[in-house]
Amino acid sequence: MINQLFLQQKKMPIILAIESSCDETSAAVLSDNKVLSNVISTQEIHSEYGGVVPELASREHQKNIVPVVDKAIKDAGINREDIDAVAFTRGPGLMGALLVGVSFSKSFAQALNIPLIEVNHMEAHILAHFIKKDENQKTPFFPFLCLTVSGGHTQIVRVDSHLKMEVLGKTLDDAAGEAFDKTGLMLGLPYPAGPKMDSTANSGDETKFEFPIPKVKGLDFSFSGFKTAVLYFLQKEVKANPKFIEQNLNDLCASIQFSIVRILLGKLKRAVRETKINTIAIAGGVSANSELRKQLNLLGIKNRLEVFIPEREYTTDNAAMIGIVGYFKYLNNDFCEINIKADPKMRI
Ligand code: KG4
Ligand code: ZN
Repeated sequence: MINQLFLQQKKMPIILAIESSCDETSAAVLSDNKVLSNVISTQEIHSEYGGVVPELASREHQKNIVPVVDKAIKDAGINREDIDAVAFTRGPGLMGALLVGVSFSKSFAQALNIPLIEVNHMEAHILAHFIKKDENQKTPFFPFLCLTVSGGHTQIVRVDSHLKMEVLGKTLDDAAGEAFDKTGLMLGLPYPAGPKMDSTANSGDETKFEFPIPKVKGLDFSFSGFKTAVLYFLQKEVKANPKFIEQNLNDLCASIQFSIVRILLGKLKRAVRETKINTIAIAGGVSANSELRKQLNLLGIKNRLEVFIPEREYTTDNAAMIGIVGYFKYLNNDFCEINIKADPKMRI
């Protein structure tokens, strides 16, 4: 089937992309490397549990997937028959959540007799840099180093081409997003705490409280000791003054955020030194963080590095980033078979 499809392949494909790895149900339509629509339905239900509940996530995806895809097609101003391929998140992510997107994509592709493209969610975060917004847009040049920071992953990736990447370092325990979300929860912020910590930190003093920077070998990260240090510190202070958190919320947010950013950029600096690659980028949900964006720019100026920061709308989970990987794979004839399975532990 696939060989025949190669013959029909178009130069400027229209790709439908589906993302369902965690708590966002998203569908996008891309024409070439340009986004025609990008619909994201965020599952609010998890906030009352302080984290994503996998079973609830898959049920929400089941409810949302058809209306989200319908809206993406409508917003793009196309017909189903115009779609040339379906790109979907195969992994990593929650099994039950992935299954919804994978099964939907398979049925959709089969019904229209068009090819399927499997996408690694972490590669997609990185390639979001290549979504075309305007003619003068500068995109990262190869090779570059990408600090990929999300709710489930923290990695330093060497990117040699659109489809060739290697993980140089990763977290040994919690991800940077989890560090934000879990310490935020200790401060009483609702899940996901990252964005709220960011805005609250705005009016805080980042030098007010100091937290330890973990010593981890090479380019790997660790956040669990940091998280425990924050917990013990808060327990001690609240014991002495029950209103401690309330009275110091802005400074606590600023100080915690500052430490997380220091941990992340310390390793990125080391990666630049070791690889001698001087083009750096950030990607993933945490790359929306204003302190990280600010400090990365400063790092670039100080060390004469080319810095690439993604558009905020493509930092947290969205299907447009799945579509851009779909686009590069389409041009490469990189399709998958209909019996493909979700892969919750998929690696770069
Ligand atoms: O990439 P993403 O949307 O989902 C995963 O693939 O995990 O990342 C979600 C993570 C959450 O932990 C959220 O708190 C964090 O990104 N996040 C932020 C900000 N916006 C989202 N963390 C810090 N500052 C932000 N502005
Ligand atoms: Zn993500």
